[in-house]
Amino acid sequence: MYNVSLEDKIVLITGAAQGIGKSIAIKLAEAGCKGMAIIDIKKDANGEQTQQELEEFGVEVEFIVGDVSSETVIQNAVKHCMDKWGKIDILVNNAGIAFMDTLETATSEHWDLVLNVNLRSVFLTLKYVSAVMKEQGFGSIINMSSIAGITGGSTGPEYGASKAGVIALTKFAAKTLGPYGIRVNAVAPGTIETDMIKRTYATLDEETVKKKLSKIPMQRMGDPSEVGKAVLFLASDMSSYVSGDTLCVTGARMD
Ligand SMILES: NC(=O)c1ccc[n+]([C@@H]2O[C@H](COP(=O)([O-])OP(=O)(O)OC[C@H]3O[C@@H](n4cnc5c(N)ncnc54)[C@H](O)[C@@H]3O)[C@@H](O)[C@H]2O)c1
Repeated sequence: MYNVSLEDKIVLITGAAQGIGKSIAIKLAEAGCKGMAIIDIKKDANGEQTQQELEEFGVEVEFIVGDVSSETVIQNAVKHCMDKWGKIDILVNNAGIAFMDTLETATSEHWDLVLNVNLRSVFLTLKYVSAVMKEQGFGSIINMSSIAGITGGSTGPEYGASKAGVIALTKFAAKTLGPYGIRVNAVAPGTIETDMIKRTYATLDEETVKKKLSKIPMQRMGDPSEVGKAVLFLASDMSSYVSGDTLCVTGARMD
């Protein structure tokens, strides 16, 4: 049997206080990673709980409160990992936000905010973490896109655009970093049952929600842990020749 082990690995992950990010962090912890730095905009009861659960697996956790779109926050987080562990093996760019917008309701403020959190952050971490990984000669990077990044989606013009940008950036980075032994992939979830989806669906009427759910051939929302398993595959040696790809986790939803 193939053993998916992340023994001794150091992970930098964003937006892991709750939701999909938390499930990814737990999967990586279950696989035995040694240390994990989490960057999240807030450390509330969810964040405290996540850190405690990770530590129960024996993982050394550094919880950094900060905005992923800030260059200083990213530079400091990378420095922190290097000072503490001397390496970063796995980078997971998970933090993201969404507004339920139409072209009419979308504002330039929403546009800037979503593009900054969802896309600029990926550029910044790629820039600073890849410098470390190039020196090491290895690394696996996973960027959270969305089915909306492929189809355009219906969550608002800024959301799909930001997630399409994540896919393009993933391909660019995979081509650039491949010669250094660094793999870069994206994950594109469909409808996953988290606070983000609950908040988004709360703004819609019952009929619209029903219509949206009926578009999922597997006839259910995904569980965050199912995205976590996809990320574990891409983080581990199980995907040793997979790079520049986008793994859809959608229950066959294609629009
Ligand atoms: N839930 C879905 O159906 C779904 C589908 C496709 C893609 N995604 C993507 O998956 C990722 C996680 O989504 P989720 O549903 O778990 O959302 P969520 O809102 O439950 O969790 C997002 C996490 O990111 C953190 N965060 C938000 N802004 C931040 C910032 N500026 N800096 C640092 N941290 C920040 C939040 O505090 C939170 O912990 C996002 O990138 C999202 O776009 C989600």
